[in-house]
Amino acid sequence: MSEYDVRAVAASAVLPLQRALLDRHHPEVEPIPDDDWSQHFGAFFGDTLVGAASIHREAMPDGLEEGVWRLAGVAVDYGQRGRGVGALLVGRCLEHAAAHAATAVWCIAPAGVFGFFEKHGFQRTGEAIDGGYRGPQYMLFADFADRSRSWAV
Ligand SMILES: CC(C)(COP(=O)(O)OP(=O)(O)OC[C@H]1O[C@@H](n2cnc3c(N)ncnc32)[C@H](O)[C@@H]1OP(=O)(O)O)[C@@H](O)C(=O)NCCC(=O)NCCS
Repeated sequence: MSEYDVRAVAASAVLPLQRALLDRHHPEVEPIPDDDWSQHFGAFFGDTLVGAASIHREAMPDGLEEGVWRLAGVAVDYGQRGRGVGALLVGRCLEHAAAHAATAVWCIAPAGVFGFFEKHGFQRTGEAIDGGYRGPQYMLFADFADRSRSWAV
């Protein structure tokens, strides 16, 4: 059993960590949606929030719409990386999307991080795009229909 507890939380509980780790100094960035089709997860070590991830319904830019969800705000505190926290969070997000009849999930990841998402069945859709202050970014896509594996963690 993991020493980390991953649970569904309000957007307001994870936004500060997501901001600090992903968009520090960029308060102008739109927050991840917080509506009926959004779900946010926090990873806790004891009472301390050490990681976050969010998933919500959003069509791919110029792409699929029906049943498509977007994974965003996946971030683990520096001192807790490499211990499986990110994997737990992504697993919970994908499980949530699958339980809500998602057909596919997409996300955007920096050049140094796309390999993390590839471990979860995502594939890059093309070349890197300019992500501004975030650096080169890749769009990744996971097609649930093609899956032979279960999304349960
Ligand atoms: C990416 C991130 C969430 C990974 O979290 P983590 O808790 O360190 O990841 P885990 O320990 O769960 O790693 C799971 C697997 O992914 C691999 N992995 C982790 N980070 C990786 C990376 N940057 N590139 C390639 N593989 C990676 C691990 O080696 C592990 O592989 P294994 O299952 O074969 O052992 C974390 O490094 C982070 O917060 N990065 C900054 C934020 C960010 O860029 N988020 C993505 C944009 S939304």
